[in-house]
Amino acid sequence: MSEQRALLSTSHSSLLCEVVDGALLIRHWGAPLSGDLSRIAQAMKPSIANSAFDQIQSGGIMRESSRGFLGRPALSGHRNGSSWSTKFEVTDFHHSDSKVKITLRDLHAELEVVISFEMDQFGVLTQNATVNNLGDTNYSLDDFTHWLPLPEEATQTLDFAGRWANERNPQRRDIATGTWIRDTREGRSGHNFSIADIALTSHTTFANGDAWATSIAWSGNSQYLVERLWNGEQSMGAGELLLPGEVQLGAGESYQAPTLISIYSASGLDGIASAFHSHIRARALHPRRPRPLTLNMWEAIYFNHNEEKIKKLIDVAAEIGIERVVLDDGWFLGRRNDRIGLGDWEIDPAVWPQGLSPIIKYINDKGIEFGLWFEGEMVNPDSNIYREHPEWILHEGDRVPPLWRNQLVLDLSHEGAYNHVLEQVSAILSTHSIAYIKWDHNRVLVDAGHLGKAGVRKQTQAIYRLFAELKKRHKDLEIESCASGGARVDLGVIDYVDRFWTSDNNDALARQNIQRWTSQVIPPEMLGTHIGPTHGHQTGRTLELSMRATTALFGHAGIEWDITEASTQERAYLKSWADYYKANRAFLHSSTMVRVDYPDEHGLLHGVVSKDKSHGLFAYVQITPTVAVNPAPLKFPGLDIASNYEIKAVYPAGEPRYMVVQKPEWMNGIHISGSALAMVGVSAPILAPANAFLIEINKI
Ligand code: DGJ
Repeated sequence: MSEQRALLSTSHSSLLCEVVDGALLIRHWGAPLSGDLSRIAQAMKPSIANSAFDQIQSGGIMRESSRGFLGRPALSGHRNGSSWSTKFEVTDFHHSDSKVKITLRDLHAELEVVISFEMDQFGVLTQNATVNNLGDTNYSLDDFTHWLPLPEEATQTLDFAGRWANERNPQRRDIATGTWIRDTREGRSGHNFSIADIALTSHTTFANGDAWATSIAWSGNSQYLVERLWNGEQSMGAGELLLPGEVQLGAGESYQAPTLISIYSASGLDGIASAFHSHIRARALHPRRPRPLTLNMWEAIYFNHNEEKIKKLIDVAAEIGIERVVLDDGWFLGRRNDRIGLGDWEIDPAVWPQGLSPIIKYINDKGIEFGLWFEGEMVNPDSNIYREHPEWILHEGDRVPPLWRNQLVLDLSHEGAYNHVLEQVSAILSTHSIAYIKWDHNRVLVDAGHLGKAGVRKQTQAIYRLFAELKKRHKDLEIESCASGGARVDLGVIDYVDRFWTSDNNDALARQNIQRWTSQVIPPEMLGTHIGPTHGHQTGRTLELSMRATTALFGHAGIEWDITEASTQERAYLKSWADYYKANRAFLHSSTMVRVDYPDEHGLLHGVVSKDKSHGLFAYVQITPTVAVNPAPLKFPGLDIASNYEIKAVYPAGEPRYMVVQKPEWMNGIHISGSALAMVGVSAPILAPANAFLIEINKI
């Protein structure tokens, strides 16, 4: 039986699976395993308890009732009531050092499942599955969930919740007997989508401890589960949440489950983040061009498109060193507010009588790229396209779904609707110099029927197809995934886009939290981070420029503010900050993220350290007023403890507001060992709340 066992292993983690009595068992997912593993089955054979099956049962990866498993099955479905219970047998088992592919069949249910696991050099596990209908009749697939076992040391889970302008709030809780489910039923991943589900020990921190993470690569409806059974067995799973009848497999048809990306780390939440970032960066389609410093004009002009005003903005942008300018919502037919125009992707002569070409030329002549906003999946009832084709919306029966931001969702799996959007968007792109599009998605999908059947899966596949086609037709086009801020940030759409709009909240204090947790999965170079206005439009809060600029530096940086209103001093700071971003972005966008386990609840210390540990750039952020006179010292993990460094504070956009008579001496620059930086640290100044500054650490 030895050929029926596969060990995928790196120095970070291992996955061990083997075939037992025709079932596929995941024996281990966690720390690296080695040596003689042939007796693991014997070692793990449990006793037979009172009031139990007479023989030991192994539910296997399919988690089947027929094999005595009493938790949630991996696959559920039926053929008009029959084939409701399965017993799959492994019929093929192929593996290499990094990949295992298993075919399982149930000839009675006339189904085949092909599952594969692949582990990359960073220990990141990619799990795929296909369900094939071998029968002559329709098979209704109700659910397919990927599962991975969790050891008993995993006593907690961490997932994320949120709303518009406040995405990705961590929620950490104890695992108890039962099932913890995080459903997404918005038809987009959503503000409340848990970008990852992470199991932890009670001691796991950013830097230390075991963590097991999964992230579902899907932008439609989905589900994360953590299940602990009465017998102590526990596991985590994730998959697409299928609506009733959504997947009906005809004879010979297949269902491809969304991919699950999973990581075990022995070095805490930062270990998980680092593996996600490395995995994402290794993709052939990862954006490689330096991430252009962006000015998005939305919060500067909203719907008030006025060429003279926009030119003034461009002039200031050019002075500052902006490399890409984005014209947001409001440029197309009738779009003077959010009640009209979505779906009519033609330039509105009422606001742009000469079209967009002159303003694009004005921008390009200054050496700046141009970007344009679309929301292709949507229509306003007040639009030509809806008046012509009311049947093109996702709907059920005679019902029109409730409006949300005055809009309805186009059914992109309807060929007419798909071609309308593709051709209108494509026509604009073909006739203008447009480097980038920001693609929004400002409402949820409800009652989302396609020709009388549930249509969320098809809609999700259609938008992926549309993005791929636009990129194929328009070489080097970049796409930003936006959905009222961060409501479509996930590992499904990531392969079609180059940037995520992290949140509509440009308030830097709120952004500290939102960026901190979105980057748990997404590397900073893919997260749009803008300097917002002095008085935040979402929160009404007034924040120092240094705080806003420090916060916006840790991502794909930009500005979203009417910079014609900025003072001479502020413009000078914006320019030096822009220069700083450009000088440091290669390092910021390729390094290891570090979120320090800072003991003082009033502050945050986070940053990046280059892979060779020669540079570090950190931000110290005073979130709330300190209680102690001296905040906890700033200690810097992740550097080389055997090397010496220069550490100093830097202020590319001006100094923060202090609450001290004299700053700590080191801020002007001192030399100190990496070991002292990690173990002893440097003094933190007391800042006024909602202030921040940067700390540069360079090897000497
Ligand atoms: C929501 C987006 O998140 C904003 O950035 C902006 O593009 C508006 N939509 C435009 O309507």
